[in-house]
Amino acid sequence: KKVLRSAYQPSPYQIETVSLNFILTEEEAVVTSELKMTGPKTSPPPLYLDGERSQLTLRSITINGKKLVEGQDYVLGAEEGLTVLAPPTTSFDLSIVVATKPQDNTQLSGLYKTSGNYCTQCEAVGFRRITYFLDRPDVMSKYTVRVEADKELHPVLLSNGNETARGELAGGRHWATFEDPFKKPCYLFALVAAKLQKIESTFTTCSGRKVDIKIWSEPENVDQLDWAMTSLKDAMRWDERVYGREYDLDVFHIVAVNDFNMGAMENKGLNVFNTSCVLAKPSAATDADFERVQGVVGHEYFHNWTGNRVTCRDWFQLTLKEGLTVFRDSGFSADMTSAAVKRIEDVRVMRAHQFVEDAGPMAHPIRPESYLAIDNFYTVTVYEKGSEVIRMYHTLLGAAGFRKGMDLYFERHDGQAVTCDDFRAAMADANGRDLTQFERWYQQAGTPTVKAVGVYDAPKKSYSLTLSQSTPATPGQPTKLPFHIPVKIKLLDEQGKCLLDERVLELTEASQTFTFDAIPSAPVLSLLRGFSAPVKVDMPLSDATLELLAAHDDDAFNRWDASQQLASRVILSLITQWQKAPDSAARDALKVPEPFIKAFRATLVANGLEPSLQAYALTLPDYSVLAQEMAPIDPDALVGVLRLVRRSLAIQLRTEFSAAYTALAPPKGEKFTVAAEAVGRRRLRNVCLEYLAMIGDEKSIALSLAHYKDATTMTDYLAALKAVDPYPGAARDEVSSTFYARAKDNKEALVINKWFAVQASTFAPDALQRVKALMMHEAYDSTNPNRVRSLVSMFANANPAGFHSLDGSGYEFIGSQVLEIGQRNSQVAARLCSVFSAWKKYDAVRQGLMKAQLVRIRDTPGVSKDVFEIASRSIEG
Ligand code: ARG
Ligand code: ZN
Repeated sequence: KKVLRSAYQPSPYQIETVSLNFILTEEEAVVTSELKMTGPKTSPPPLYLDGERSQLTLRSITINGKKLVEGQDYVLGAEEGLTVLAPPTTSFDLSIVVATKPQDNTQLSGLYKTSGNYCTQCEAVGFRRITYFLDRPDVMSKYTVRVEADKELHPVLLSNGNETARGELAGGRHWATFEDPFKKPCYLFALVAAKLQKIESTFTTCSGRKVDIKIWSEPENVDQLDWAMTSLKDAMRWDERVYGREYDLDVFHIVAVNDFNMGAMENKGLNVFNTSCVLAKPSAATDADFERVQGVVGHEYFHNWTGNRVTCRDWFQLTLKEGLTVFRDSGFSADMTSAAVKRIEDVRVMRAHQFVEDAGPMAHPIRPESYLAIDNFYTVTVYEKGSEVIRMYHTLLGAAGFRKGMDLYFERHDGQAVTCDDFRAAMADANGRDLTQFERWYQQAGTPTVKAVGVYDAPKKSYSLTLSQSTPATPGQPTKLPFHIPVKIKLLDEQGKCLLDERVLELTEASQTFTFDAIPSAPVLSLLRGFSAPVKVDMPLSDATLELLAAHDDDAFNRWDASQQLASRVILSLITQWQKAPDSAARDALKVPEPFIKAFRATLVANGLEPSLQAYALTLPDYSVLAQEMAPIDPDALVGVLRLVRRSLAIQLRTEFSAAYTALAPPKGEKFTVAAEAVGRRRLRNVCLEYLAMIGDEKSIALSLAHYKDATTMTDYLAALKAVDPYPGAARDEVSSTFYARAKDNKEALVINKWFAVQASTFAPDALQRVKALMMHEAYDSTNPNRVRSLVSMFANANPAGFHSLDGSGYEFIGSQVLEIGQRNSQVAARLCSVFSAWKKYDAVRQGLMKAQLVRIRDTPGVSKDVFEIASRSIEG
């Protein structure tokens, strides 16, 4: 049954305090909850408690000490829920005992086992798999928790807040109790009972509170926790400095687990992380992994204020905490690394993934209107577009105005469960602004296009810029109203010098004209600087103007963007030629235009650029971004032309790539750091390697092999593995087998994931056969989400030639995997299923094949509601 945003009703009952007792044995977990309930003073309605019947064996339920009788005092729903028919008025004690089987919980939601350890994941609706409860974020309570388990098997016992006591019991058992002084919704509850080791440190907050920090993992991983510790302390300091937010408990724990559906979870004082977002050491983690760990550790920490202290009223408000917290973590990463580089990386994600979601059947506003399974709405739209919406407040109000709004938001709503409207009101009220129209960013799905037409009047020396906006229809939203769009601009002259200072234009109508006087000469418009709004731009520029912007715009994002537009043009025009070519000889004879090669060469040999920016300027737009420019998408032509352009550039600029590659070699004995400069050098050098590897001759394969042998960091090992993987032969065998063997010896599961991922994404005629063979590999484990993502999801998302094979074999394989994985883990299966969502963008044959998989999935009896929702919406959309 569909849940509607418009159907929100406050809960008639609240839970003041929660006391939980977990008795964990190898057979079962017995959970006793004692709840102090409050309700209406007169005529109390039946009390509905959430609970998943398949997970919970009800042992007893009492009110004020009196046992309730099934059928007479309460009824159990066939699948979900328990209704107490005639609860007392005002306040009462409710006590429930249930048993669950964590060892059989393959959904990784609720209380489950991972590598023999107990842990929990309750967001969004996992608590109802632990006990019957008011599982909704607007019910906030104070928790005390007791955990009892075998001391030998589970020496570490943790829950939210402070440990208040611990002790031993007969039979080798022990227990501990915890108290969390802050009220919280049950989705922030966490428990861990495990065999783990830790690193620890302390952080002293701005007001002098000493916080004990402990980061836990399985013993073989404790040498990979230091970076998370550094990142956490950086995040704590940063939140004090930038937002004036101080940590509020005496302890902070992070626990790393192997089996986890998402990245990490911000449980109060006890964050639980996917190992992939915590572990990092130079020999096992790439620079990108280090940055991801820093970003996610920051993200979960920042949730303590944006999410925990102030939480969501209902799950439609998810972006209230997620969009805001992504915005905060990206500001943190920008300050810790390079703001320009971080911006480019964020926009790449928006364009490659969010724009695609916005243009497909699953399009939804950042605040959705309905869902079957809320877990399906942890999307790039809610998170990343949500963050861009927050960023627009920042752009409109300025840094100081935004901070005023944040302060007012915390002042008004600390300890409350609130809405996106409350956030918008705080921003508006703190700044004396009317942000009514801004609500449309929460209401309307789809990516707006902003069209720009500039006219220069030479005699009057005035420049007028007409901006117009339009947004395509999305499922359920045929027409759209204009958005409030901050458009950051600047005017440049032909040498790139400033003619008009940077400013923010506020586009609020369908079309508006802005006029600027005293512009001495015909200007070049630098538009949507820094990607000031999540929109597409329609402004036909000559190649010469784009080259000028790519070289001279002082906005680093816009320089990069101009380089990407130039490359897109070349690629798209070659695709047309490719499609017209009568045979493969004609396709092979296609030529990359000389001026593009010249401009590309200029970027490659330029001196004094930030190496990461240079690396991104030399990286061609990827499949997903280019595919959006094609109707229908022709995967063969797109993949073929991308390869052709990359190889042509490599062959024609081999000398320059080789020279840059050599010049960027790390000085012998250089100490590893993740400073932006060092990361940039590795990034740029590996871009050179990637191009050179495309040549595929003996010399280039030898270079990749040498790169591997000289490598001291995972960034370099992995670059070498990718470089040789397309070329069967001795070099590939050597690199691949030693890469795997070392990871296996070192018990580095995450490195083994990389080994799978490279093979799954390599362009090869037998890609699918390789993937199928790898599923039989000793290291493959279809119950581990990270492993599944590294092989199966990687093939579906990063191997377009294989996945979109015209014989339908890729689709058939992924369709079967959705169903097979779905029997154990519906969240992972639903996410995988969404690779079919873009089916209507392809040609008739592929449409038919993809749709057939969606229908097959939708119509399979017993399919989970998560998977059903993605499949059915994709078909209807
Ligand atoms: N709140 C977590 C975060 O930091 C995500 C948890 C989502 N879990 C889920 N099963 N949907 O983004
Ligand atoms: Zn989050």
